[in-house]
Amino acid sequence: MSNSIESVSREHRLFPPSEQFIHHATISGMAAYEALCEEAALNYEGFWGRLARQHVLWREPFTQVLDESNAPFYKWFADGKLNVSWNCLDRNVDAGRGDKTAFIFEGDDGAVTQINYRDLLARVCKFANALRDQGIKKGDRVIIYLPLSIEGVVAMQACARIGAIHSVVFGGFSAKSLEERIIDAGAVAVVTADGQFRGGKILPLKATVDEGIALAGKKSTIRTVIVIQRTGAEIHMEHGRDQWWHHLEVGQSETCEPEWVDAEHPLFILYTSGSTGKPKGVQHSSGGYLLFARLTMLWTFDVKPDDVFWCTADIGWITGHTYVAYGPLVCGATTLIFEGVPTWPNAGRFWEMIDRHKVNTFYTAPTAIRALIKASETDPETHPRNYNLDSLRLLGTVGEPINPEAWIWYYTEVGRSRCPVVDTFWQTETGGHVITPLPGVTPLVPGSCTLPFPGVQVAVVDEAGHELEWGKGGSLVITRPWPAMIRTIWGDPERFRKSYFPDELGRNLYLAGDGAVRDSKTGYFTIMGRIDDVLNVSGHRLGTMEIESALVSNPLVAEAAVVGRPDDVTGEAICAFVVLKRSRPEGEDALSMANELRNWVAKEIGALAKPKDIRFGDNLPKTRSGKIMRRLLRSLAKGDEIAQDVSTLENPAILEQLKQTA
Ligand code: WTA
Repeated sequence: MSNSIESVSREHRLFPPSEQFIHHATISGMAAYEALCEEAALNYEGFWGRLARQHVLWREPFTQVLDESNAPFYKWFADGKLNVSWNCLDRNVDAGRGDKTAFIFEGDDGAVTQINYRDLLARVCKFANALRDQGIKKGDRVIIYLPLSIEGVVAMQACARIGAIHSVVFGGFSAKSLEERIIDAGAVAVVTADGQFRGGKILPLKATVDEGIALAGKKSTIRTVIVIQRTGAEIHMEHGRDQWWHHLEVGQSETCEPEWVDAEHPLFILYTSGSTGKPKGVQHSSGGYLLFARLTMLWTFDVKPDDVFWCTADIGWITGHTYVAYGPLVCGATTLIFEGVPTWPNAGRFWEMIDRHKVNTFYTAPTAIRALIKASETDPETHPRNYNLDSLRLLGTVGEPINPEAWIWYYTEVGRSRCPVVDTFWQTETGGHVITPLPGVTPLVPGSCTLPFPGVQVAVVDEAGHELEWGKGGSLVITRPWPAMIRTIWGDPERFRKSYFPDELGRNLYLAGDGAVRDSKTGYFTIMGRIDDVLNVSGHRLGTMEIESALVSNPLVAEAAVVGRPDDVTGEAICAFVVLKRSRPEGEDALSMANELRNWVAKEIGALAKPKDIRFGDNLPKTRSGKIMRRLLRSLAKGDEIAQDVSTLENPAILEQLKQTA
């Protein structure tokens, strides 16, 4: 298991929180953090029950906090009733925050629109009523295939309001990926747009939806496609199935009685990559998820009433769910959302926007930071020093390990050495932060996500599930259920149990799939990356098997193996080793074949899964029993000297072939 853990460079400098930060933070000082941890250790259910009563509005209160009778299918607050959209919207309007800005939207072209809580509630109600008119009801699945936009959040909140279960599919996924998700979720409707603007270009969305539904054929359960007009592009509207959003909204009431649901009612399904070819539909709850979204906003981001909060993630990912669509709203915060890309029209776009909108908290991925460091070296005009970033108070990162060099740059050049950087470790499955510094508590160490979020019980264990001493690398586990945890894999409870609570570990430990080590003095956690067959490219999760099955579905491909290799900007890059049914291509032929295969993968999964390197061989290196030697492939991909014993290889000459990238 430990063989795929890459060692990362270490930094031991400590960056303690400033007195001022400690003074103003919601969780103020290490003693306050420790008191919360102790409260949870002494009375776990009492701790979460207290917080759930304090932070979530219940229509009907719960009487039981945690039900472990059917572990690992845990239930939280099970007999409580609530509505998530009511908690996010009505709650703020009723508390006198109706005029407060909920979202500031900046389009790709720089045009800015704002919406306050009162108007957002009205829009959500109108759309929720429109969904009900289309016959969509509690428990139905609705696919949302939209760019990051106010409408995207409105669609999510409207589903929550009527108890429909949304499944947002990132706009970069292909028709084929949509098809799989439509079928797996048994979705009845898709909400999409005619297209989207990105980096000065118009990209189609509706056409991809049409293709996805067509691919699903008889297996498609889609009755309605609702289309937002965004780009004005010419699109096909299928009579009887497709409806314009703005037509459906006409005459709808601006109030809508929420559907009161049980705390365990699924709020959404979000597909993510695992170690098999088929993405997993991660199912989240309503009550526990919402509680955690709120607590992490308050404690990790220390959100304040006048803050402008900016999380750059798209709503197609979990980060955009918890820290764009739900967390900020349940705290009544003001959130900036941005349609475009950080490098257009130039790589100063983020810094310029922080100044323009006076952003206080900025939360992004290490990949973006590394890309912007690089860009500022080639184009010094885009360096953050050229912008006024005085409004910043707090910085955050998520999605992949951050190398200490990038951390220091972020801290000094962007945060001007006065903003804490919270390196938040979590996953689609965890719903919110599980290991993270708290800005008024934790002395920071670049490259470490530091300590568990209060109440979350984390450990590093060996292959048999025994806790390792600090300083030893192993597998990251969560030892007790937590409110925002994944409830199941949609339609596949057995896969849920096997993937996350494997018998080998015993004791119902949640297996994160990441390698980790705790500092031998401080106990701080450092994440060493995935230890399963999942790659992390630009903070996006991709399964090697998924890419392999996409490659071998090409009629020209006989066999393919995919591994990751380190990359300066994207963290990991995809490297594919391919054997064709015909002879091995060379020179120009290899280049054009590699391009054809990249486009094929883009069509099968999405452009984000295109292999960076493709290498052709007459064969793949295999053991005598026919297993592909992936360790060897990883060394080849990295360009390392081959130190392993290769005497068992049938054809050692292929190693020479596989050293060359097409
Ligand atoms: C990785 C994203 C190191 C990790 C929220 C995890 C991180 C996977 C960090 C989940 C971090 C996320 N430091 N690694 N701060 N945050 N990861 O489901 O490998 O898209 O398992 O959720 O990203 O990715 P996912």
